[in-house]
Amino acid sequence: MEVLVLPTPADVARRAAEVVLEGLAAARRAAPVVGLATGSSPLGLYAELAAAVRAGRLDLSGATGFALDEYVGLPPGHPQSYREVLLREVCGPLGLSAERLHVPDGSGRTEAELVEGAARYERLIAESGGVDVQILGIGANGHLGFNEPGSALSSRTRVKRLSDRTRHDNARFFDGIEDVPTHCVTQGLGTVLDARQLVLVASGTAKAAAVAAALEGPLSASCPASVLQWHADATAVLDEDAAALLRNRDYYDASAAGL
Ligand code: F6R
Repeated sequence: MEVLVLPTPADVARRAAEVVLEGLAAARRAAPVVGLATGSSPLGLYAELAAAVRAGRLDLSGATGFALDEYVGLPPGHPQSYREVLLREVCGPLGLSAERLHVPDGSGRTEAELVEGAARYERLIAESGGVDVQILGIGANGHLGFNEPGSALSSRTRVKRLSDRTRHDNARFFDGIEDVPTHCVTQGLGTVLDARQLVLVASGTAKAAAVAAALEGPLSASCPASVLQWHADATAVLDEDAAALLRNRDYYDASAAGL
């Protein structure tokens, strides 16, 4: 695991974009597969990748994107559905084809339909050849995707209840807490671990405890993002505030400075 600590969120976005660009180049696939997080954390990173596209350093016109998660029960076209967010923030600016953007299906009306949609999503990821680079944020409670504390470390895409903490944190995107869905369909932690490379971005003091638990605490379902420790190619790109509670900071900085 590599831990890169940068002064500001803007530096995080720039550095994380470089890590993603290197990862996609190393994938050596004409049509790479990118795993896409939503939320505020990756927005700066997406803006940097969009700049790389404009500068001719990145071409995602043949790429496929897989979202980490989706709310259950939002009407099609709802501006806060993750499909709409990714169409706005990624497909347009980065030139990723909307036809090759895949998002878990949260439209099922029954549990059986949602379960079938989740299984279909797993098959789609497998048929694509797997995710080359997975972009991740982290919840203040340590969730990864919408795998809330207690999620099985080997879980696959499935329906999950959102925790009260997550619903409150995400209420800022809606008119009020009562509008935030109670359930989601999320890639499982096992699904995330199958990606060839993980790139986690986090900024701000609200993430400091979760980041410390994820990177330096025990590998535990109580902190789902701790699965990063299990992955052979994971990079966490943090600003000073998000890194404030890390104990091994000297080591990370020395390693980042080079061999
Ligand atoms: C979103 C996702 C979540 C977010 C996390 C952080 O697809 O999977 O795990 O990354 O909730 O959200 P922000 O970045 O808004 O703080």
